[in-house]
Amino acid sequence: MRLDKYISQSTTMTRSQAKKTIAQGRISSSSTTIRNSAYQVSDNETINFDGKPISVRGLRYIMLNKPSNFICSTIDEQLPSVFNLITVEKREQLFIAGRLDADTTGLTLITDDGQWSHKITSPRKKCAKRYRVELAEPLADNAVALFNEGIQLKSENQPCLPATLETISETKALLTISEGKYHQVKRMFAAIGSHVIALHREQIGEIELDTALAQGEWRYLTPQEVSSIA
Ligand code: URA
Repeated sequence: MRLDKYISQSTTMTRSQAKKTIAQGRISSSSTTIRNSAYQVSDNETINFDGKPISVRGLRYIMLNKPSNFICSTIDEQLPSVFNLITVEKREQLFIAGRLDADTTGLTLITDDGQWSHKITSPRKKCAKRYRVELAEPLADNAVALFNEGIQLKSENQPCLPATLETISETKALLTISEGKYHQVKRMFAAIGSHVIALHREQIGEIELDTALAQGEWRYLTPQEVSSIA
């Protein structure tokens, strides 16, 4: 596909805005600037806009490193919405694929693709989410086994699906869960008598939080990251 067409289909730019952006030298592939609008984009080629990969299929897929004290709501309430951090056109069309609590930090995926989002959030898809957890007190000796068996949360009929707990130290661990119940991680630890004092999401499916993103920064997902959610 021609480069200008690819860009206009992949972003909110019109064909003529895409041509202008190409002429300005803001488009590149493998760090080589492309100034020819007729350049043929090949399959699996990653095209960058201002050095950041642009998304595919005309839909937008964004990774945000969520800071604490921002809420995963579309409007500001007592705290500002994470959408204040995303400076894109038609921001109102975007929503969050798997919300985090106000005090949780890390990987937040934002999109306008409902089907893609469903693959992340639907319990039936069992998409794994990995969290780095810090606890107020040392973990119980049998914590790994309890998580592996399936934690019974208060006011839920069924126990949680088996979860993988990897201990880092007495008070730090990585937890991988494949559901997304309300406050799930904090409630799981509460169920074994632990209190979470810091929670950070590092990974969703195969998509890892880009360590180059400081808190509050975002970038578009690469086509490979988008298609890794199946
Ligand atoms: N589980 C929680 O308890 N909080 C989050 O923000 C995410 C998962």
